[in-house]
This record gives sequence, C-alpha cells and structure tokens, in this order.
Amino acid sequence: MISRRKFLGRAGVLATGLTLERSTLSHGLVPPSTALDPGKLTPYVDALPIPEVMRSSGLRALPENPAVKLPYYRVTMHEIHQKVHRDLPATRLWGFNSSSPGPIFETRSGQGLLVEWVNELPVKHFLPIDYNLHGAERDKPEVRCVIHLHGGKTPPASDGYPESWVVPGKSLFCHYPNQQDAALLFYHDHTMGINRLNIYAGLQGLFVIRDQTEAALNLPSGAYEIPLLLYDRFLRNDGQLEYPVSPDPKAPWVPEIYSNAMLANGKLSPYLDVEPRRYRFRVMNGSNARFFRISFGDLLPMQVIGADQGLLAAAVTMKRVLLGPAERADLVFDFSAHAGEKILLKSDSFDIMQFRVAQAGGKDTSLPPQRLRQVDRIPEMKAVKTRRLTLDESLDGLQESMGMTLNKTPWHMPVTERPVLDTTEIWELVNLTEDTHPIHLHLVRFQILDRRPFDKFAYQDKGELHFYGPAVAPGLDESGWKDTVRCEPGVVTRIIVPFEGYTGRYVWHCHILEHEDNEMMRPYEVIAEALNAALPDGPTSRGAVTS
Ligand code: C2O
Ligand code: CU
Ligand code: CU
Repeated sequence: MISRRKFLGRAGVLATGLTLERSTLSHGLVPPSTALDPGKLTPYVDALPIPEVMRSSGLRALPENPAVKLPYYRVTMHEIHQKVHRDLPATRLWGFNSSSPGPIFETRSGQGLLVEWVNELPVKHFLPIDYNLHGAERDKPEVRCVIHLHGGKTPPASDGYPESWVVPGKSLFCHYPNQQDAALLFYHDHTMGINRLNIYAGLQGLFVIRDQTEAALNLPSGAYEIPLLLYDRFLRNDGQLEYPVSPDPKAPWVPEIYSNAMLANGKLSPYLDVEPRRYRFRVMNGSNARFFRISFGDLLPMQVIGADQGLLAAAVTMKRVLLGPAERADLVFDFSAHAGEKILLKSDSFDIMQFRVAQAGGKDTSLPPQRLRQVDRIPEMKAVKTRRLTLDESLDGLQESMGMTLNKTPWHMPVTERPVLDTTEIWELVNLTEDTHPIHLHLVRFQILDRRPFDKFAYQDKGELHFYGPAVAPGLDESGWKDTVRCEPGVVTRIIVPFEGYTGRYVWHCHILEHEDNEMMRPYEVIAEALNAALPDGPTSRGAVTS
C-alpha cells in the first residue's frame, strides 16, 4: 500500500532509484523541449574552479566589546551570470561577491570574524515560490535572505535564525567567534519558506577553520588541498536553472528534487590537473536533496580523515563515502600509482569530474595520515536527559504527502526542546517516514551512538518501540564529531549531544531543503540552569523570536 501511494503520489516528482532518477526528465519535471541532457555536452572541457579566498577589508571593533578588533568582511549577495559549461550560455545565479559557490573563508580556531552580509539581490525571485508554505505567504517580500554558518558554534544573534531575514538593500551583521576545532563548515541561506530556492539559486559557500592539531599532521596543503562543493541542478538548453514544480500551479512545492546535472564548484563535468602524489579533498554535499556516494575511479581506495566537525581519531580506508545533504568528508587520495592516467570522481553511476594525473610532479612532502586526533567517545551515562523525537510524514485523504514534521509539531508551535547549557542529552530520532532524513542541529556537535531498526506500525498503533534487530554502531567514517546525521526510515538513530557554547534560540531540522522549507524544522532553546529551575521543561508560551 505504501509503495503504491509513493508511486501514485510522487511519480515524476520523486524517484529514489537510480534508473528512476535518470528518467525524471521524461516525466515532465522540466518541459522536455527545453530540458538539457547533460550527457550530450562534451565532458571535461572546463577546469575545476577553485573558490577564491574571501578577503577581509580590515579590522573592526566588536559591537559588544569595542576593545576587541576582529577582521571584518563585507560580502554582497548579487544576481550574477556564470558559465557552468564551455558550451552553454552563462547561467543566471545568485552568488556572493561575484561567484557561486561564494568565496571560501579561511580562518583559525579561536580567530573570530565579523561579517556584514549585504543583500543586493533583485526584488523579484526567479524561482517558483510556494505561497502556502509557512513564512512564504504573499504578504512577505519575495526576496529575503539570512545567512547561517553551518557547523559554527555561533551566538544566537549571529546564527541566521530563519525569521531574521533582510530584504534587498539591507545587511545582516554576524559575529563568528570560531571557538571550535578545525573543520570544514559552510555558509548558506536559511530564509523561512524559500531557503530551498535561495540555495538552489546559488547562495552557499565554504568556510574553513584550521588549528594546531591539524597543522601538526602535515597533510597535503596549498595547491594539494582541494575544496569540492558538489550539488545537482536541472538546467535548460539555454543554460538556465530550472526548479521543478508540482502539477498544481497554486501549490508548486515538491517533496524532494533529484536533478540530472552534477556540478563541482559550480561547473558541470570539470577536470583537474593533478600531480602523481597525495591530495586532500574537502568534500561537501550542497544538494537540496540528493545523496552522493563518492568514489574515485572504479572504487579505488581512499582515506577518510574527517567528517562534518573535523578530523576523525584515525584515518579509515574506504572505497565509497556516503554523504547526505550538508554532510562533509575530508578525504586523502594518493595519485602516485596513477601517473599519466585519468581518474573519474563518481557518485554511483554519475561521473562528476575527471582528474588528469601528470607523468611526474614535485616531491610529496606530506605525511600519510594515520592517527589524527583524540576523539573521546561520550559515555551514555553522561546524558542527563533522553528525548524521543519522531520524524513524521502527514498524508492527505488520497495518501499523498502533505509534508514532513519533527515530533508532529509544526514550526510555529512554542519551543519544546530546551536543553540546559553545559549538559549532555541523548536524542532518539524515530523515523516513521519512508525517506532518509539528514537531521542537523545548530550550535552543537554530537556523536552518533547507534541505529536500530524498529516496527513502525507498532509504534504508530501503541507508541511502543519494538526493535527488529540489534543496534548498529555508526560507520567508521561517521564515528567522529558530526553536526548532521542520516536517519534512515524505520530506524531509531541515537545521537549524544553536549550543549555547549551559548544560551538562546536555535533551530534543528532536516537538511533536505524541500522538507526544511515545509515544516520539518523546529526551534530549540539552550537555557541557563537558573532559568531551567523557573521554567519546567516542555511546551511553554514563549513563542517570540529572540535574537
Ligand atoms: Cu545547513 Cu540550519 O543549516
Ligand atoms: Cu547549521
Ligand atoms: Cu527530510
């Protein structure tokens, strides 16, 4: 029954199997006459763009403490036209300064930054807004943006709360203290109800934090460290972006999108000239909904050295790495045995880009990664509280998806999760839906405890967890610090989370952007102990936005 519903309700909009993904175009997502078949373009004719490093325009005083001067960056968001392939006209995109993805921030652990995000976007959106979604109603300005630093331990006023958007002509000022370990973070739009469109239009970029521990490892660096922001898009023959819509023009929202053009740093099928030596790849999945399963060539072994929140305890050799939207992988690949060869970077049957390995190169002075850093597993007994939270899908009378929620609670309801600062909690994410959801919590980093399959129907009937099998430990590549976790259908995923850094209002959500925009996001609030005593945990009447 369920698969029939999925088939009837979503054919042409959603397809999870590869064969189906490849045929989505013929199902009418993009008018077939204007849809581009990326397979018809000559691949590997454009060099992989390496994002520029974001440049600071000097020092500025921290507003709350003028004695502290920090590097100040003024970053403008514009409409730009950028070529995604040699043989296509330039694509209209929204970018930062003059590119999409935006320039890359480079900073050190503990080196705070001040960023002014300037909205210089046009006042009309060029992608299909669904005015039925909460926060995107007709009375709201069409173009709004607010930037969030994903993975940042950031004070609440600078965290990019989805309702704290600004219109064209206005700026947002953010302070990123970066009091955290070396990691690959990323910045992106987070605007209520149109986040999926703003990011699809191009509003994302990478942000690197470095530290001593990392420097001491002598990993490949400089020209041998390559950032790779990967995402999928639908393009038309004229090179323009197409965002799919439902058959109902009054309600264009679609539950997920899986497009057919794979972009790496904004280019379709680029190449990179490499030397026969070790390279470090900082890979991030910037798709709205697609999962990547990254491999080099025909499953050549690579070393995974880090995940979302930085280095693993030790390097792990793997042939493929699975990345849901917003997940990151830090990889080392050694081209030294492949001099003169061409090696493809793939995701399952999609070829993403080509590496052209030179016959010879300079001496590789980097060290092979082994032991990387200390990552202490948090004992379960440290948790002062366990929360059971469901991931739900609501269906209409015709068994069609009306969207997903967290704990059956829409966004606008009062805060229900109020962890106490400097305490540790276990969150049990009970997935009652048919999809894998990459669940992300702002502010914190966490560890995955385990995943355990359970009987969804028994849970829906009686509210009881009946497990089908034993708990499964996370993969070695996800056993470090994380900020986004894949929650598979019919599985309870348990994470252990130290709530550290700041008190205040944050959010947690699914990072499939179509879900996030349609109620699969909730506020949560980190509270100080004193406040906790005064306000019992649970639903409260505090609905206002704090910032
Ligand atoms: Cu990538 Cu709410 O975040
Ligand atoms: Cu985030
Ligand atoms: Cu989801």
